Amino acid sequence: MNASYIFTFAPVLLPMTNLSSHKEPLATVLRSRRTIHLFEPMPPPRKALLDAIELARWAPNHRLTEPWRFYVIGPETADAIAQLNAALVAEKRGARAGQAKLDRWRTMPGWFAVTSRIADNAIMTEENYAACCCAVQNLQLSLWSQGLGAKWGTGAVTRDPRFFELLGIDPTQEKFVGLFWYGYPADIPTAQRKPVAEIVTEIP
Ligand SMILES: Cc1cc2nc3c(=O)[nH]c(=O)nc-3n(C[C@H](O)[C@H](O)[C@H](O)COP(=O)(O)O)c2cc1C
Repeated sequence: MNASYIFTFAPVLLPMTNLSSHKEPLATVLRSRRTIHLFEPMPPPRKALLDAIELARWAPNHRLTEPWRFYVIGPETADAIAQLNAALVAEKRGARAGQAKLDRWRTMPGWFAVTSRIADNAIMTEENYAACCCAVQNLQLSLWSQGLGAKWGTGAVTRDPRFFELLGIDPTQEKFVGLFWYGYPADIPTAQRKPVAEIVTEIP
């Protein structure tokens, strides 16, 4: 699929006066969004991300905890994360694999991370995390409707205490949700889903 295809869905962000007339564009955005693994080198506009974060926070959240925290990561910290990840990969799979990861991660044009507030009890912490996942999807769809793709990452580096230090996150206060790359897609993968009949149970 050609990357320019997704630019045609920008109207979905226009003020909605007649919801029914927007059903189709919304369905198209939902269906066409893909995780992007390859990006164009051109840096994505920071404003596009900030606009997407503004929309992300309209996600449902029980008890109105607004538990999401967004970290807009600049080049210096992105490079430090890439180096930490490369060191972890090198430890496990050797120097060449580490260098290959470093080279790839250094091509990622935009970086951000999302965390969720840890609450006083496990149920609320889980509900906060659920709300953050809703917010992340708002954010990804908003980026997508602006012609930008994203990749949600939860690899080993995101469980390393040094990663939290790099972002200045207190892991006793915030649960990690995802490390994201975003930018203009260089390639849009195709995807399949199971037939609806396989995932629906009708209960009388
Ligand atoms: C919680 C979560 C964690 C994910 N972590 C990773 C990851 O570490 N690496 C990766 O390549 N993709 C990751 N993904 C993206 C999924 O692999 C991707 O959504 C899936 O392949 C379906 O593709 P689609 O997003 O294009 O529909 C993650 C997605 C979610 C929801």
